[in-house]
Amino acid sequence: MRKNVCLMVALTVFLVAASINSDAQDPGPDSILLKNGSTPLPFTHRKHQNLQSSECFHCHAANKWKIDDWGKEVAHAMCISCHDLNEKGPITCKDCHK
Ligand code: HEC
Ligand code: HEC
Ligand code: HEC
Repeated sequence: MRKNVCLMVALTVFLVAASINSDAQDPGPDSILLKNGSTPLPFTHRKHQNLQSSECFHCHAANKWKIDDWGKEVAHAMCISCHDLNEKGPITCKDCHK
């Protein structure tokens, strides 16, 4: 009997842990190959997630992982403004569009 209780507790802990895990947000790809026309523009997604002050919300609306109207205007506003503000990361055309 006592053994069964232990087993139940262990199983419950396991199930709770598993459900917490499955609720965790998928962090998306490590790296994303953005396109500038035909020129590939590799974007270090994971590295950006791990930068200080680079939380998801800087680039994504809450719980939305596809960015609305993604393209030149949205990208430039998002990417360049933060690099400018932090004085880190590329801000000139040729540093992003090689
Ligand atoms: C911080 C990096 C960055 C800098 C700096 C930057 N761009 Fe971009 N640019 C992007 C990204 C990201 C996209 C969108 C790519 C996509 O659609 O996935 C883009 C898209 C574009 C597009 C549209 C390409 C297409 O075919 O859809 C043009 C044109 C462009 N940029 C020109 C420029 C020019 C000119 C400058 C300098 C004044 C510049 N960019 C600076 C990152 C940058
Ligand atoms: C510096 C900007 C930036 C940050 C910070 C960032 N992301 Fe992203 N993420 C992007 C871009 C750009 C894309 C590709 C946009 C697109 O295709 O709509 C993307 C794509 C994704 C995708 C794939 C979407 C799809 O359906 O293809 C997921 C999932 C995702 N991000 C999750 C996250 C999570 C979770 C965080 C925070 C831990 C985060 N991102 C932080 C810029 C960022
Ligand atoms: C919230 C702030 C923030 C946003 C938004 C952001 N960046 Fe950055 N990015 C940085 C910082 C800070 C660095 C410098 C990292 C370092 O030097 O360690 C950087 C560095 C880079 C670099 C240099 C190489 C590398 O990967 O480290 C590239 C390329 C780059 N960013 C592209 C982009 C593009 C493209 C976007 C838009 C999709 C973007 N960044 C959006 C903060 C940001």
